[in-house]
This record gives sequence, structure tokens and C-alpha cells, in this order.
Amino acid sequence: MRILMCAAALRQESSNKKLIKVAATLAKNAQHDVDVASFSDFMLPIYDGDVEEKQGIPEVAKQFAIRMQQAQALIIASPEYNHSIPGTLKNLIDWVSRISPMPWRNQYILLLSASPSVVGGNRGLWATRIPLEYCGSFVYPDMFSLANSYQAFDQNNQLSDAKTHARLEQLLMSFIAHTGQCGSKS
Ligand SMILES: Cc1cc2nc3c(=O)[nH]c(=O)nc-3n(C[C@H](O)[C@H](O)[C@H](O)COP(=O)(O)O)c2cc1C
Repeated sequence: MRILMCAAALRQESSNKKLIKVAATLAKNAQHDVDVASFSDFMLPIYDGDVEEKQGIPEVAKQFAIRMQQAQALIIASPEYNHSIPGTLKNLIDWVSRISPMPWRNQYILLLSASPSVVGGNRGLWATRIPLEYCGSFVYPDMFSLANSYQAFDQNNQLSDAKTHARLEQLLMSFIAHTGQCGSKS
């Protein structure tokens, strides 16, 4: 299965970037075809209806939609900002939602988060579900939130705790199996 993976984070040392890399390795090891996108490839202006009318939908939003459509599944690792979705990710969702037909429709999506807090950014994921589900995506019911993320990775950027690593692997495999059964785009 081809999977697009992206951390909705820009920071060099981002825990969400590290988490998506661990997830990508797990998926590759299970013989899946992984496209790891960098969020910095999708820098968009703040949505403005006048900009859309005069200049159309930015190429970058279209590129994201194409990469999403070339994959059977999308995995996003996102930080939580003020108990909610980061504006950058919401802005991407909004711009992409202006493309017709709606690119988010029937997308199978798994949400991950990493945060230095003890709840790992889980509240932000609940907020992230809302626009994605509204736009017609199938957001997997289970989500993964990595707590204490600044201490969670070892020197090789692997998850230090074996149980946490196993939990991520289990979730990933069950999401992939579910998407394989239900989410064929052919
Ligand atoms: C504007 C802003 C709001 C934040 N709000 C939260 C929050 O509500 N909950 C939380 O756990 N962390 C919050 N944080 C801290 C982020 O979880 C932390 O910066 C994290 O490292 C960001 O993810 P990254 O490591 O992938 O860059 C916030 C950070 C910023 C900049």
C-alpha cells in the first residue's frame, strides 16, 4: 500500500517529524510504499477568498492533493497548539478543500501527535478530526499521542520505550489492514 506521511511541523528538531520517521520505518519494514512529505513543501498563504478569486488555488495545495490521491492512506503527525489544531495544518486543510472534486473525500487518515506534555497532544487530534471528517475523510478511530516527547527519543531518534514503540506499530498495522480492506481507490 502507498502511504503519504507528513508531520505538520516545521521545526528542525520537531518531535512530530521524529515520530513520523519512526512510523515511516515501521511501514517500510512491513513492505509498504511510503512517501514522506515535508510540511515545508506546502507553505501556503493564509486563506483569503480574494486571493483565490484573483490567483486561483495555490499550486502547492494542488501538489498536496495530488500526492494524497496517489496514496491509499495518509498519516499526519501534528503538534497540539492551545489544545487545538495548529493554524498551519488547518490552513492546508482549508486550501485543499477548495479543490474540486473535494480531495479529502474518502481519504483514509491516521492521526498521530507528539508533545512534551503528559497527554501528548491528544486534544489537538480531536480538534483535527473535525474539519477532516467534515470534508469527508475516514479518520481512523484510534489515534496515537506521544507524551513527554522531548525525552521519548534516543540518540538515534528511535522511541526509547519498547512498549510505546510496540503500541505505535500495532496501531499502524491495524490502520493499514483496515484501509486495505475498506479503502481501495481502484
Ligand atoms: C502556540 C503554541 C501553543 C502550544 N500549545 C500547546 C498545547 O496546547 N498543548 C501541548 O501539549 N503543547 C503545546 N505547545 C507546545 C508544543 O507541543 C511543542 O512546542 C512541541 O514541541 C511542538 O511540536 P514539535 O516538537 O513537533 O515542533 C504549544 C506550542 C506553541 C508554539
